[in-house]
Order: sequence, then C-alpha cells, then structure tokens
Amino acid sequence: MRRFLVILVVAALVVVSFAGIIDEIKKRGYIIMGTEATFPPFEFVDKQSKQVVGFDVDIAKMIAKKLGVQLVIKDIAFDGLIPALMTNKIDMIVAAMTITPEREKMVSFSIPYFTAGQVIVVRKSDSFRPKKYEDLKGHRVGVQQGTTADIDLSKIKGIEIVRYTRFTDAFLDLAIGRTDAVVLDAAPAQAYVKFNPKLMISSPVLSEEKYGIAVRKEDKELLDFINKTLKEMNSKTCYDFLVSLWF
Ligand code: ARG
Repeated sequence: MRRFLVILVVAALVVVSFAGIIDEIKKRGYIIMGTEATFPPFEFVDKQSKQVVGFDVDIAKMIAKKLGVQLVIKDIAFDGLIPALMTNKIDMIVAAMTITPEREKMVSFSIPYFTAGQVIVVRKSDSFRPKKYEDLKGHRVGVQQGTTADIDLSKIKGIEIVRYTRFTDAFLDLAIGRTDAVVLDAAPAQAYVKFNPKLMISSPVLSEEKYGIAVRKEDKELLDFINKTLKEMNSKTCYDFLVSLWF
C-alpha cells in the first residue's frame, strides 16, 4: 500500500512537471509579464489611464494574443525581475533588458528585438559635460540598481554611484542637484530630457546592447513561441509600426 502511494505521488509529480508552461498559461487564461515601468517609451505608466503602456507592452500583448490569453503586468524593481522569474511569480521579463552573459547564466533570452546603448544625462545649467564614463570620476552619478549602467560604472574606481529603484526618482535628484549625472539607455534618456527641459544628453552612445525577452531556462517551449512571434512581427513590418508609434 505504502509503495503504491509513493509510486502514485511520483507519477503525479512527473505529470505536473511535464505539463508544459504553454498549457499552464492557456489553462489559467493569462500570461504574466514582469517589468519595471519608469522606462519610456518601452514601459511607463500612462498619466490618464494609470496603465502600464509602451513598446514592450505591445510586444507582450502580441504574444498573449497569439496564445489566446490575457496579459497581466507586474511592475516591480528592475533588480527583482530575474528573482521573480526564477520563483515563478512571472512568466517572462519584457523590460528593455539587455542580453548579457551574466544574466544568461540564470535565464534564457529570446532573439534580440532592439539595439540600444548607454548615454549620460546632465543638467543644462551646470557646466559639467561628460563625454565618456571616465569623465564621471569624482562625481555623483545616478543609475537604476542592477542595470548595465550600474554594472559598468561599478567597475570604474572613483565614481560615486547612487542607486535608484525608479528612474523617476533618479531624475528628480538630478534636476535638484543631488547628483551630477544619470546614466541610462538612449531612448528613455531622450524621453526624460524631452519632458524636462532643464536636462540634456551630454555624451554620444557609449555601448552597444541588445534587448531580449527572458524566460526560465526550462521553459524552452515558451521561448520558441516568443521567438516565432518576434520573427513574424518582423516579417509583417508590425515591428516598424510599433517603432513609429512609440519613438
Ligand atoms: N537595458 C538596461 C539593462 O538591461 C536597462 C533596462 C532598464 N529597464 C527598465 N524597464 N527599467 O540593464
């Protein structure tokens, strides 16, 4: 009897662990995207509707639509995204996340869907015009915790890094002079500068990075589905439409 029960439990576990992620998502009727929504035009909170919108959200909606399910968005700290994915709180990360070898040790990335790079943002009223990371030595520089900017600047000695959870706070502090610069991806930098005429971009684009959608390593099935969707979007020039819509 006891042995029979053990076999039953093991069999049940096997069935559960082999029921694919796509079946699971279809059964529950929604897919959960994790993101950090102070990153326009990729993901930000729309003032009127209070909803998270943007380029990444539209891509995620396309994936949800093709699966025949709803899209649920969780807006959490950027450095909490990979932990949330690995503990099953979200199904995928769509957060303008750069594909890096370190992150690839923990998660699987889709084919790249966007090329980006870091820039330095400063106050116009200041005379400080950094052109490269080395110029930031001896200064207070805001970054979003856990981003590629944080990782790259942390390697350079003599920069006083101030780490933020939300870019909105990083830019408030820059505007009032609590920091001397903020380093982030070019497109969101342009969006923030556009809405804050006191700020400007002082450097050229300083890195080349590619964004990917991240899933758990075991969810190969979902990864294939996402890649298929991204490829289809490209061939349908759906992607160009989204770019023209958000940029
Ligand atoms: N591309 C950078 C990185 O991967 C920054 C991404 C920040 N994204 C966000 N949604 N806040 O580290």
